[in-house]
Amino acid sequence: MALSQYFAPTRVVFGRGAEEQCGVFLKENGATKVLIHFGGGSVIRSSLLSRVEKSLSEQNLSFVELGGAKPNPRLSLVREGIKLYKEEKCDYILAVGGGSAIDSAKAIAYGVMYDKDVWDFYSGKAKPSAVAPLAVILTLSATGSEMSNSSVITNDEVNPYDKVGCNTDLGRPKLAFLNPELTFTVSAYQTGSGSTDIMMHTLERFFHSGETFEYTDENAITLLNSVWKNTLKALKNPNDYEARASLMWAGSLSHNGLTAAGNPTGGDWSCHRMEHELSALYDVAHGAGLSAIWGSWARHVCSTDYSRFAYLGRQLFSIKEGSDKEACMKTIGAFEEVFRSFGMPVGLHELGLNLSSSDIEALALKASWNKSRTLGDFQKLYYEDMKAIFAEANKR
Ligand code: NZQ
Ligand code: ZN
Repeated sequence: MALSQYFAPTRVVFGRGAEEQCGVFLKENGATKVLIHFGGGSVIRSSLLSRVEKSLSEQNLSFVELGGAKPNPRLSLVREGIKLYKEEKCDYILAVGGGSAIDSAKAIAYGVMYDKDVWDFYSGKAKPSAVAPLAVILTLSATGSEMSNSSVITNDEVNPYDKVGCNTDLGRPKLAFLNPELTFTVSAYQTGSGSTDIMMHTLERFFHSGETFEYTDENAITLLNSVWKNTLKALKNPNDYEARASLMWAGSLSHNGLTAAGNPTGGDWSCHRMEHELSALYDVAHGAGLSAIWGSWARHVCSTDYSRFAYLGRQLFSIKEGSDKEACMKTIGAFEEVFRSFGMPVGLHELGLNLSSSDIEALALKASWNKSRTLGDFQKLYYEDMKAIFAEANKR
């Protein structure tokens, strides 16, 4: 019998100024020399990096730095990080940034404990058995990587690129510093993309083939409602602390397993797998890629269980009238309106892509590993299904 598991070992330090305590906590956790890893420069512009350096120096911790993690973080930089960590004899990694910097840091943390190729963990050739200790200072509410078991890396050494996740509990950070003020500077587009991703982590878990429970379902609906309302507030007033704080917690709790509590299948995840192919080939923002295909996925699979969609819509959007099928269709449309209100696309053209039918086939072939794997749990998707979903998304 399949059993569900919930494992959330990360110590979360939350509130205004949380990042200024990082030196104290890292020292308590045994760090002496820290590799600080960050993205393209937002942490320098906001002077966050200087505050982090100060906090470490006050505790007499030494550090080296590696910036440059791109959105859809690349394997080549992971290799640089592994080399630097070893050469400098570091004993802790501190990621400062969004999901990309954190995922890149997770890959470095696996790689420094392994004397073969770190990509083995992403290609499925090997499983990590050890990891360097990892702390994160989060600057963007989105992926939940600060508590998740996942790291998603783009292999830029192959053509076309591959984007693949490595999921293991070793990848859950030991410490996460969450200060909502750090997200005030996130652009409207990245706020919308991040919030879409947060909602999708709960939606992916909501649609599954296992038993359902009132608590878990209501928890999911509360989270979706809160992200919806608070995203609109944050877009209107980027410095709204309460809205940013709600989004930050929602991001962490949407992807640490809480919204799948009791569900042994863990959820559907087709849209995520298909989106990873979009961002591998076209380098789009992950959340925007998700909103561009979700409605097409939903219309393709909803006949499996109209009532599941209808239940969500009745609770979340107060859809009162109609059969389950009618309520289901209204629910899908209502979600697309929510994504639109976040400034997100609900089709591939809106995402800025202009794909031919052979591009669509290539995407479906990649997502189905040349027709050798299926996706999904709510409804199993084969190559032809994936092609139909991408083609449908390509109409808008
Ligand atoms: O690189 P910098 O200069 O820091 O700028 C980033 C980047 O341009 C910017 N940004 C971040 N914090 C900011 C800020 N700009 C101003 N102020 C701030 N406070 O935002 C841009 C996007 O950052 P990125 O880290 O790429 O975004 P996100 O957090 O959405 O991460 C996306 C990556 O995570 C993966 C995605 O596939 C994608 O590769 N995911 C990781 C997951 C996980 N590890 O559990 C789960 C997700 O499903 C997802 O797949
Ligand atoms: Zn995601």
